[in-house]
Amino acid sequence: MKSVLIAGLAVASLMFGGVAHASEAKATEAGCIKCHAVDKKKMGPAFKDIAAKNKGNKDYVAAAVKKLQSGSGHPKSAASEADLKLVMDWVMTL
Ligand code: HEC
Repeated sequence: MKSVLIAGLAVASLMFGGVAHASEAKATEAGCIKCHAVDKKKMGPAFKDIAAKNKGNKDYVAAAVKKLQSGSGHPKSAASEADLKLVMDWVMTL
């Protein structure tokens, strides 16, 4: 029983690791990584700083996706809304 639980946890952590990895690849694919890095400032702020600054704001992901899509106040992104949401959800976990 205990080993089943441990196996389950191992699978769950693998899955989470996989999701984070996929989102990071998406950020690269969408070009975000040209101007942003996870933990240092490039042309844009570090994703970790963005996450820390907006942690308390549950509407932040939606607002940021809108900003990225419209290109007002941020260089416009050609990535799909679903991809932008995926990337922003990942950013907020950093
Ligand atoms: C051409 C460079 C460039 C690219 C490409 C870029 N960014 Fe940015 N980003 C910036 C700069 C500069 C800022 C800081 C000024 C601002 O907010 O516009 C910023 C700010 C941000 C912010 C904070 C905005 C806010 O108002 O809180 C988020 C979130 C963000 N970027 C996400 C992304 C994501 C996700 C991508 C990829 C889809 C991306 N950026 C691609 C340059 C870029």
